Order: sequence, then structure tokens, then C-alpha cells
Amino acid sequence: MTTQSQAGSDNRGGAGTDTLTVTDNRTGQTYELDITDGTVRAMDLRRMKVSDEDFGLMTYDPAFTNTASCRSAITYIDGDNGVLEYRGYPIEQLCQESTYLEVAYLLVFGQLPTETELDQWVHDITVHTFVHENIKDFMNGFRHDAHPMGMLLGSVGALSTFYPEANRIKDAQNREIQTIRLIAKMPTLAAFAFRHAMGQPYVYPDNDLSYPGNFLSMMYKMTELRYEPDPRLERALDVLFILHADHEQNCSTNAVRAVGSSQVDPYSAVAAGVAALYGPLHGGANEAVLRMLRRIGSKQNIPDFLQGVKDGNERLMGFGHRVYKNYDPRARIIRKHIDDVFEVRGKSPLLEIATELEKRAMDDDYFVSRKLYPNVDYYSGLIYEALGLPVSMFPVMFAIPRTSGWIAQWLEMVVDSEQRIARPRQIYTGAREQDYVPVDRR
Ligand code: SDX
Repeated sequence: MTTQSQAGSDNRGGAGTDTLTVTDNRTGQTYELDITDGTVRAMDLRRMKVSDEDFGLMTYDPAFTNTASCRSAITYIDGDNGVLEYRGYPIEQLCQESTYLEVAYLLVFGQLPTETELDQWVHDITVHTFVHENIKDFMNGFRHDAHPMGMLLGSVGALSTFYPEANRIKDAQNREIQTIRLIAKMPTLAAFAFRHAMGQPYVYPDNDLSYPGNFLSMMYKMTELRYEPDPRLERALDVLFILHADHEQNCSTNAVRAVGSSQVDPYSAVAAGVAALYGPLHGGANEAVLRMLRRIGSKQNIPDFLQGVKDGNERLMGFGHRVYKNYDPRARIIRKHIDDVFEVRGKSPLLEIATELEKRAMDDDYFVSRKLYPNVDYYSGLIYEALGLPVSMFPVMFAIPRTSGWIAQWLEMVVDSEQRIARPRQIYTGAREQDYVPVDRR
């Protein structure tokens, strides 16, 4: 960036150059800001001052609606055209051809594995699915009706105490083993939380089963010697895991990056992601969708419900997105897999309500004008319900696969030389220089 006074401006920038010419009307000074990758550096604004003592200009962007926080090569989204790619591979092809563990490798290492690399990766994940026995005592400390997301949040954070060496984040080998442990142990923690809530004994991992198959076993195995997962459910779960694996700088990933920027261990950073995902506007939306559909109760009640949304008394959960201003491609894929699951587990009456609700909303200008389309959370809950999961487990089903996205983003952040501790500025609106008043004189 260069600064010219109005009088002496040479036209270094001008039409056709990747620069922004800005005149500060407070001083008449003109500035040339470089445009790089469609952005201007916020720090370039700090040179725009009205005096030498002036702090300079900042950007003001609540919720970061128009702020790039990092450079990332992991996930590409084109919100207007409903495009989602992991490391450049379209989500549709990955759901068709790949497995969740292969996609997790792709997100973490940046390329699809060779057969040898994949076999080693699957082995490494498989043999790290056990958790320390103390975790069971920890889990038992929760109330019987504790929300599984709260239990997962506490357990993931607690894992950092079992692996104190995880805070050696500059050590690449150490980062890799913690990456493997987090991806491997998340389903175990999730299943333990479910079994605790159900008052059932914990089921240990079965290393002869696939990643989704082992999760189903830890969730549902009872007195049978070996749990045999239905391959149709196993595949539907694997596709759901692929669809939820990463989504660039969403709220929970931003939390992981921000907390991770303090150079804390990855378990604590991922626990921050679990906490953010818990919210009903984010990963908690799939739980909120099911509760919404149950509350609507029948197709006849849909017009009144939609009117309630327009009156601001309701929110159409599972609709809308900060980035997608078109149909979320993940919702389209999930919708296709619902029939496979219903074939095994029986059809949910809520599907008819969900389908009719989507149709009515898509025909209604209130939603179309606000570019509100179904997102990933709109139909996923119907599959989880069909799998026999309580609604409170739905956000946990989101957290399991999103762990590979969180850890991939954390790994990218840790080695990014441009990144430092995340510490935004503010516009101060409070009082200044108040004199203390003793309590008997207030
Ligand atoms: C996820 O970021 C990601 O990538 C997230 C995610 C991922 O993979 O990580 O994709 C996962 O979180 C999906 C979103 C799940 N959340 C929900 O389904 C909850 C319902 N949706 C919303 O609350 C909302 O759409 C958000 C939170 C998803 C997006 O919020 P924004 O971008 O801040 O949009 P907004 O709230 O400013 O809404 C813009 C307008 C507003 O209308 P006006 O006040 O301007 O008139 O649209 C309205 C909102 O009131 N609106 C809705 C609505 N969503 C937005 N109105 C009714 N129902 C809705 N669902």
C-alpha cells in the first residue's frame, strides 16, 4: 500500500491494476491498497490517520460476515451454485466412491491415499479406538439425563489430561498421533455417552468392524457375541460422515482455530469446536429440526407454522445458510439416502411432513426471496431417528465426522506462518475515566 497526498498523487494504481484507490475525505489523502485474492489487508487501513497520534482505521465486521480469517486449501464452497469440494474433489463423487476414513485422510494429508497408505491409516485409526478406563468413571459422573453433547464436550477436553505431551504442537510426529487418536476415539466417546444415557453397559470397540460398523456396534450391541451391522445402515452412516466432515470456516471450525491459535493442545481446541457445534443455529439444528417436525405434527398444521415463521415467532430450522444461497448439496445427497435407511428401519411419518414443509417453503416468496433452502441439517435427523437415536444424540452424530475437518483445519493453522494468536479489536462504547464511589455513597 502506498500513500499519496491529493496534490502529489502519481497514478501508480488506476484502472486495470489490482489496487483500490481510497481517498480519506477527512484529510484529502489518497491511498493505494493492494487487492490480493479478492481481499484487501485490514492492516493497510491502519495507515489512514487524521493525525500522527491517531490509531488509524479498522474494519468493523460483527460475526465476520465479510472477513477472511485465513488461507486454506481444505474445503471449497460456491454458495451461489451449491458447490462443495474437499481438496478439490466434488462431494458427490466422494459420497459415491469413497469412505469416511479415506476422506478423513484426504482432508488431513491433502491427497487421496495409495492403497498402502490407506491400509496403514485404517489400521492406525482402528487400534486407537479404545479410551482410558478412567473415562468410564468420568462418564458415570454425569446425571442419567445429561445431554450427550455436554458429555462429549467434557470428555474430549478431558482427553488432553491423558496425553499431556499433546501440547508439543510444533512436533509433527506428535501432531500426527494426536490426530489419529482424536478421529479414532470420537465414536467411542459418543457411544459411551449414548450408553450412559440409556443406562446400558459400555461396549468396547470391535477392531474387525469398519469405522461406521464399529460405531453401530458400540451403540447397539447387547447380549449377542458379535454385533453384525446391516451393510445398508453402515453405508448410509459412512456417507453421512463424509457429508459432515468439513465445511471451511464455519462457526465451530472458527472456534477450533481461534482456541488453537493460543498454542493449546488439539484436544482442548477440538473441545471448543464441540461447544460451538452444540448450538441450535449450528450443529444443534438437526436436533431442533426433529423437535420442530414433531411439534408441527401433521401436514395440516404446516400453513400455520409457516405463518408463525413469517411473523417472527418461529424459525424454520434446517433452512438457511450463511454461505449457501442455493440448495445445500449435502441436503440433496442425504435426501437420497433416507429411503435406504427406511427400507431397513421402517418409514418415519415425519418424512411426509418434512417433504411437504420443504415444498411449501420453496413455493413461498418469503423464503425464496431470503434465499432460504434446506441445509445439511434438514433431513439428517430423519435418518438418525430411523437408526433409533434419541434426538439429543443428533448433534453428537455431527461432531464425530466433523472431528476430521476440525483437526485438518487445526493442522493447517499450526503451520501457517501468517497465523498468530487470534485477538480481534473492538469499538469501545462504554464510559471512560470514572472515579470510584464508596458503596455508602452510591
Ligand atoms: C450448519 O457455516 C456452516 O458451514 C455451517 C454448517 C457446517 O457444515 O458447518 O453448514 C452447518 O450450521 C447449517 C445451518 C444449521 N442451522 C439452522 O438450520 C438454523 C436455522 N437457520 C438459521 O438460523 C440461519 O439461516 C443460519 C444461522 C444458518 C444463517 O444465519 P445468517 O447467515 O446469520 O442469516 P440471518 O440469520 O442473518 O438471516 C438472514 C435473513 C433474516 O431475515 P431478516 O431478519 O433479514 O428479515 O433470513 C432470515 C433471518 O430472519 N432467516 C430465517 C432463517 N434463516 C434465516 N428465517 C426463518 N427461518 C430460518 N431458518
